[in-house]
Amino acid sequence: MKFIIKNYGCQMNVNTAAKINQQLLAAGHVVAESDEQADAIIFNTCCVRNTAEQKILSHIALAKQLKQKNPQLKIAVIGCLSAKRKIHGVDILLGTEDAMNVVEKLGETLRPLPPEPTSTAYIDITYGCENYCSYCIVPFVRGKLRIRPIEEIRAEFNQVKDTAKDIYLLGQNVNAYPNFPQLLAKLAQQSGDFKLHFLSSHPKDFDIETIKVMAKYPKIAHDIHLPMQCGCDKILKLMNRKYTVADYKNIIRQLRELIPDIHITTDIICGFPGETDEDFEETVKTVEEIKFSAAYIFPYSNRTGTVADKMENQVPFRTRKARATKLVEIMRKMS
Ligand code: 5AD
Ligand code: SF4
Repeated sequence: MKFIIKNYGCQMNVNTAAKINQQLLAAGHVVAESDEQADAIIFNTCCVRNTAEQKILSHIALAKQLKQKNPQLKIAVIGCLSAKRKIHGVDILLGTEDAMNVVEKLGETLRPLPPEPTSTAYIDITYGCENYCSYCIVPFVRGKLRIRPIEEIRAEFNQVKDTAKDIYLLGQNVNAYPNFPQLLAKLAQQSGDFKLHFLSSHPKDFDIETIKVMAKYPKIAHDIHLPMQCGCDKILKLMNRKYTVADYKNIIRQLRELIPDIHITTDIICGFPGETDEDFEETVKTVEEIKFSAAYIFPYSNRTGTVADKMENQVPFRTRKARATKLVEIMRKMS
């Protein structure tokens, strides 16, 4: 069978797609050179913002056109978008928890495989999220927080530590892992010529111990992705983020104190409901003050079922976009 995996969204999806790819290759299948040549097209999807959702839906529509010409073609849609909504006219539809079952549904048995020697390895440490940031659909499509058993994490780590150059520990909020600094310290003391990274951190659960561990062990990379989302207390509260701008700046200060060459990246949402020009200017000021190495900037996207979607004072789309464009420009100049 010739297959193509189309992956969208976060690092956790990158990891799932890589595992499916490996299972299918191990079963003797090959990667198709084009959609037209494929016997199976697997969409590993994302629905965190409407732009992602619409793009994926249009790609699925194209695959469905191919299926009309070639009825043998199997279309699988897995991951967050299929957990969110029904998608008609496809062969396999699986949510996030059973995404790996796509291998079996395509007629293969899932079996434990030694990981490919890759220079970058990803290891899930938690699944799901129950923080319910008011704009976010993730808790609805990825479910409640589940902690991966330590034996599984260790086993996967041991398999990659001698071949991988970079190892990423993954979770929607890695700081929700019980005693995360201890896990980090333990893994950072293992043999192997790797750098250890982790994604994403949540400022509300970020433990100063984590900074100490990062500073202490040379195998931990000096980079951190700490989504701020916005630099204005009024909006942070509406977002249900559970920290203030002062709390956030305090973490940044301590990071830079203990790790002077730290590389800090963030995510910012522009035009959240109720955000006035003044609120946005506060975010601009905060971003200018902190001087991030990089910022991923998104116009706010309404997600059905979330609290923010029903809030009053929705900001017009063009204002959301204009603010995002302005902030991107400020970041570009600063960097
Ligand atoms: N609108 C815009 N951006 C969003 N994100 C999550 N949900 C939304 C939304 N509804 C952004 C956040 C998060 C990143 C992965 O996506 O900044 O950190
Ligand atoms: Fe979404 Fe907030 Fe959970 Fe991140 S922490 S996945 S933004 S609900």
